[in-house]
Amino acid sequence: MIPVIMAGGSGTRLWPLSRTAYPKQFLKLNGQLTMLQQTAARLDGLSNQDPVVICNEAHRFLVAEQMLLGGKKTSIILEPVGRNTAPAIALAALQVMKDLPEGEAAPAPVLLILAADHVIQNVSAFQAAAKQLLPAVKAGKFGTLGIVPTEAATGYGYIQAGSDAENDCQVVQTFVEKPDAATAQQYLDAGNYFWNSGMFMVRADRYLEELERFRPDIHAACVKAMAATVADMDFVRVDAEAFAQCPDESIDYAIMEPLSALDAGEAQVVVAPLDAGWSDVGSWSALWDIAEKCENGNATLGGGDVILEDTSNSFVYSDTRLVTTLGLGGIVIVDTPDALLVASKDKVQEVKKIVAQIKQQG
Ligand code: GDD
Ligand code: MG
Repeated sequence: MIPVIMAGGSGTRLWPLSRTAYPKQFLKLNGQLTMLQQTAARLDGLSNQDPVVICNEAHRFLVAEQMLLGGKKTSIILEPVGRNTAPAIALAALQVMKDLPEGEAAPAPVLLILAADHVIQNVSAFQAAAKQLLPAVKAGKFGTLGIVPTEAATGYGYIQAGSDAENDCQVVQTFVEKPDAATAQQYLDAGNYFWNSGMFMVRADRYLEELERFRPDIHAACVKAMAATVADMDFVRVDAEAFAQCPDESIDYAIMEPLSALDAGEAQVVVAPLDAGWSDVGSWSALWDIAEKCENGNATLGGGDVILEDTSNSFVYSDTRLVTTLGLGGIVIVDTPDALLVASKDKVQEVKKIVAQIKQQG
């Protein structure tokens, strides 16, 4: 099983700490390791194969350094521009197929596709769920890991589990990426839907086959971009001109939705439940949720001193300065050298509105 770590996201929901130059996956948000390093460390005992990381060219040294510190020999595929996850995974799958020994009759390797920016508290439960997918995936299926939903969140994909089983997994009936609030509520009420964790397991050849079936345009652009790669130390640089022509699409829309919509007889997607303290740390309040808190429900992070007087259920990040609060509740403060966020904790989902304004003002 070859781990493929997708590390090309921009992570704007944790602004102002997470920036284009330094997105969330490269930050230490909950301990000594960065999100990327935690993702790699989580594989010990599950896969002994070297991971493939796929990221933006701008972050190559960050990735190389963080993976080296984690003691992993890593091959790093560099995207000149972000084209979302369907192309990113295609590049990794093509690279893995290229690396197969000539004339090898063995089946194509299984890819364990992971996001670089998730927290998983119970690593052994994660590894057990991944192992549960393996037999069905070896047989050619697409494996997903499903989280039992707790709210009608609109930032996730929803996986409807059917009653049919395949190799210890449930066969997926439908996959809907980021439904609107009313639809998400229906799914929550129905009781047989999981959130898509954003981690997938699939054989490299099967991924490329289904991508070619549903999105021949993406497939063709990625094949072209990988036909002219340049190796540079541990980096694989894809052809910039060819990759620039690739459509921007996520695996969820490009493959998971149409593949799950096939007739029952052709079912290709399975799900194993994941109950492991998973979080995609999609906002400051999600980080507060998983953080260690004092008796007043406050969590703090960063190198600066923080004094909280008569303050409760709040999150404060201070880079270096002393940050103090008095008589507040349910707030988020993030103090960095060049930007300060002060927000109500139940509004932090909307921090992207601020990021959009900053971009507009240039
Ligand atoms: N290499 C590369 N290139 N990686 C990328 C790119 C890209 O262009 N775009 C995103 N990624 C990485 C991100 O860094 C992250 O690790 C992962 O791919 C998923 O991308 P997100 O942008 O974070 O997706 P999402 O959170 O909106 O939605 C996905 O994850 C949810 C769970 O967190 C979907 O799979 C949803 O269905 C799912 O519920
Ligand atoms: Mg995400």
